[in-house]
Amino acid sequence: MASGSCSDAPVAVRVRADGYSISVCTDEAVQDRALAADVSAGLRSIPKDLPPKWFYDDEGSRLFGAITRLPEYYPTRREHEILQRAAPEIATLSGAGTLVELGSGFSHKTRLLLDAMAAAGTLEGFVPFDVNQTALRATAAAAVEAYPDVAVHGVVGDFGADLRSIPGGDRRLVALLGGTIGNFPGPERRKFLAEIASLSSAGETFLLGADLVKDRSRLLAAYDDDAGVTAAFNRNVLGVINRRLDADFEPRRFTHVVTYDEETQRIEMWLRSDGAQEVYVRRLDLRVSFDDGEAMRTEISAKFRPTQIGDELEAAGFSVLAQWLDAAGDFSLTLARRGDGPPP
Ligand code: SAH
Ligand code: TRP
Repeated sequence: MASGSCSDAPVAVRVRADGYSISVCTDEAVQDRALAADVSAGLRSIPKDLPPKWFYDDEGSRLFGAITRLPEYYPTRREHEILQRAAPEIATLSGAGTLVELGSGFSHKTRLLLDAMAAAGTLEGFVPFDVNQTALRATAAAAVEAYPDVAVHGVVGDFGADLRSIPGGDRRLVALLGGTIGNFPGPERRKFLAEIASLSSAGETFLLGADLVKDRSRLLAAYDDDAGVTAAFNRNVLGVINRRLDADFEPRRFTHVVTYDEETQRIEMWLRSDGAQEVYVRRLDLRVSFDDGEAMRTEISAKFRPTQIGDELEAAGFSVLAQWLDAAGDFSLTLARRGDGPPP
């Protein structure tokens, strides 16, 4: 069964024979138009900036997988540690039959949640949602293989446009893991949380993984590893623009720069121009110049205090059920339930 349509976007719902169904809300053509608009606006703004979703082409998704295994990048291991301990309780407290995972990527940690729901005897459905179709299909296929009786429906979509295409289910648990919530600027984060609340019915639950404020040297190292994998991931976005918009960025002439601002509790990732240079984006007929040392922002990653996460969830229309930290206090998981009333 292929349920769910993609509102406000060309719909392509396809049923696959290999055990899962998939809704493709954002195909190559939709993405090319959105990328063109983002690059056109981002290269003209001061400072120049690019939205992070364009990191995740197939090469970017592969490089992100490599980041999660780096010694400096603690969040994935910490979140995995918490899930190992808390997944059975999450399954019981949520009572969920369907797990919806936003920004699922390769969903390695998600296995712990699905196993716990299966052990609780409630697991009926899994809905991975991601902008990268290759990762999404790999995740959906692996889930079908591991849980042959579970209905798996993937959604290839953008958080900003396609959340409404998530199919209804039997008591859904929506999960947003990996600290992805930190990649939204404050106002967009509040809007995104409120949207997740509004797509949930009363009693449905939301599981949020968020990275915590800590020593700045560890934060900086997590986004600037010695092996240069994060630098390659950051520069890859220039390759994405080159390929899709026929631009002539020379990625090697940009340096990966990471900053942490204690006041805003925010890691920022930048690409700094080595020397003055001009770039031509043929598909936009746009010529842009970079001064020597000029930096373009490519990502933010906010860090949180545990109480702040609860406050933001309550403000969005959720009630917090439980919060877990890893033994070192590096990372957090918070489970919240959608209340009965409308969000304030
Ligand atoms: N949940 C995984 C992956 C986190 S990386 C983990 O915890 O390791 C962020 C994921 O979100 C990537 O898979 C990326 O493709 C996806 N993503 C980023 N921006 C997105 C957007 N705007 N809409 C949908 N998915 C997005
Ligand atoms: N959600 C991840 C985070 O903020 C994404 C991420 C990790 C990332 N490393 C990165 C994004 C490097 C851009 C560059 O931790």
